[in-house]
Amino acid sequence: MTLDGSNQRLEPRPVSASQLTMARQAMPDDANPWGYVHGGVVMKLVDEAAGSAAIRHARCRVATAAIDYMSFLHPVHVGDLLFLKASVNDVGRTSMEVGVRVETENMLTGEQHHTSSAYVVMVALDGHGRPTAIPPVIAESPVEVRRMAAAKIRRAQRKSLEAKLKESDDEMNGPGVIGDECMRVESE
Ligand SMILES: CC(C)(COP(=O)(O)OP(=O)(O)OC[C@H]1O[C@@H](n2cnc3c(N)ncnc32)[C@H](O)[C@@H]1OP(=O)(O)O)[C@@H](O)C(=O)NCCC(=O)NCCS
Repeated sequence: MTLDGSNQRLEPRPVSASQLTMARQAMPDDANPWGYVHGGVVMKLVDEAAGSAAIRHARCRVATAAIDYMSFLHPVHVGDLLFLKASVNDVGRTSMEVGVRVETENMLTGEQHHTSSAYVVMVALDGHGRPTAIPPVIAESPVEVRRMAAAKIRRAQRKSLEAKLKESDDEMNGPGVIGDECMRVESE
């Protein structure tokens, strides 16, 4: 709290305040026997980069709620340098969508590729592990404004899909939990 009674932690913050780039070289342990890096390794790095951007925005611990989308556009080879560029695209009350763009560089030749893009939903947590309010985010550049508009569309689509699935689930099975199909199959 500040002297005028406002909560400083919840003051709006620009996208640029939490944006970051992580760099890491792909090692033999990351790859299959043919030297191609596993998709799961890239996903873990995406999760780390998204988590760090989210923590920098919210200034509290966060949990990954969903990886909404992830593309694999080009293979990554052992020895490549991976750059993970993460920025908070938009925020809700307690959650944020973080966009992560992955680029690789062959350090010997300088050849570069855009290899992946992902949208990760991170939720801010209080000291008891419960979702907690976060500051609004300010999009300043035209790119940030475009990403924010796209993030709002994805958020609306997620909510609409969730509502439709719940409606269909309730119709078929009576009120229940969305996304429990696996548990139901196991128990049948
Ligand atoms: C993420 C988690 C904290 C959400 O808790 P919850 O009690 O469901 O929280 P709420 O329903 O109040 O939702 C909180 C926010 O998260 C968002 N959210 C929750 N689940 C989500 C999902 N699957 N996808 C997208 N957003 C989600 C809600 O929309 C809400 O956003 P808003 O406040 O900005 O409107 C909880 O599900 C959790 O702890 N999950 C495990 C996280 C984890 O361990 N991650 C590592 C991967 S193994």
